[in-house]
Amino acid sequence: MPTSASPADRVLVALDVSSLDEADALLRRLDGILTGCKIGSQLFTAAGPAAIETARKRGFRVFLDLKYHDIPNTVGAAVREATRLGVFMLNIHASGGLAMARAAAEAATKAAGEFAMPRPLCLGVTVLTSLDRRALQREVGVPTSVESHVLHLAALAREAGLDGCVASPQEISPLRLAMGARWVIVTPGIRPAEPVRMPDRSPLLQKDDQVRIATPRRALAAGADYLVVGRPVSAAKDPAAAAAAIVAELGAP
Ligand code: C5P
Repeated sequence: MPTSASPADRVLVALDVSSLDEADALLRRLDGILTGCKIGSQLFTAAGPAAIETARKRGFRVFLDLKYHDIPNTVGAAVREATRLGVFMLNIHASGGLAMARAAAEAATKAAGEFAMPRPLCLGVTVLTSLDRRALQREVGVPTSVESHVLHLAALAREAGLDGCVASPQEISPLRLAMGARWVIVTPGIRPAEPVRMPDRSPLLQKDDQVRIATPRRALAAGADYLVVGRPVSAAKDPAAAAAAIVAELGAP
C-alpha cells in the first residue's frame, strides 16, 4: 500500500454481526468516515455473498477473511469465486503449504482477467494470535518460537506469490524488517488510545479477548498497512464517533 494512503483507507471495520441488516446499519453509520470493511466467517456463513454485495453497494471495499485452508484445487476455486465477487483483499492459511498458496495467487490473477475485476490482494495467515508458544509446540507440533514460525510462513507466502500477511501487532516490526516495504501487513488487535465507552462495559476492559494489542498509532508506526478494528467501533455507543477518533489519531501530526 502506498505510504500516502489516507488514514481513513487504512482502517477496516470488522463486520462481526449475524445479519445483513446489522451489517448495513453499521456501514450506514460509517459512511464518509471509513472506506473498507472486513467480512469474516460469521457474517459470510449467515448471509453469504449478499454481505459483500451490501458492503460494495454502500461504497466500501471488502476484505474477505475466510482463511481458506484446503487442497490447492479447492482453494484456487474458492479464490476464483471471491475474485468474481469483487473483494479487494482475501486470505488463506499459509500453513496449507506452498502449492496451496501458489494456487490461490494464480487463481486470483487468472480470475481477475476472466471477470474483468481488479486482482485482490492475497494474504497468508501465519500463526493465529490465539496460539501461544506452548500451544504451537504441544498442540500443533511446531518446535520453534511464534515469531520465527511467523517469519518462516511469511517467507513461504511470498515465495508462493502472495502479497502480504495478517499479523498481531507484536510481529509487525520483525515482519516489516524481514519482508521489506512492499509486503502488505494487516493487523487486528487494535485498541484506541482514548478508550471509547461501550454499553454495559467498563472502559477499562477494552482488551476483550485480544491479548497482543496496540493502539492504532503504534501499529501504524511499527509498519502496518491496514488495521482491522472490530468492537472498539461496532460496540461503541456512537460507532461513527469512535471510527472518526481512530482516523484522527492516525492522522494527527
Ligand atoms: O473486536 P476486535 O477488534 O477484537 O475484532 C478483531 C477482528 O479481527 C475480528 O473479526 C477477529 O476475528 C479478527 N482477527 C483477530 N485475530 C486474528 C485474525 C483475525 O482478531 N489473528
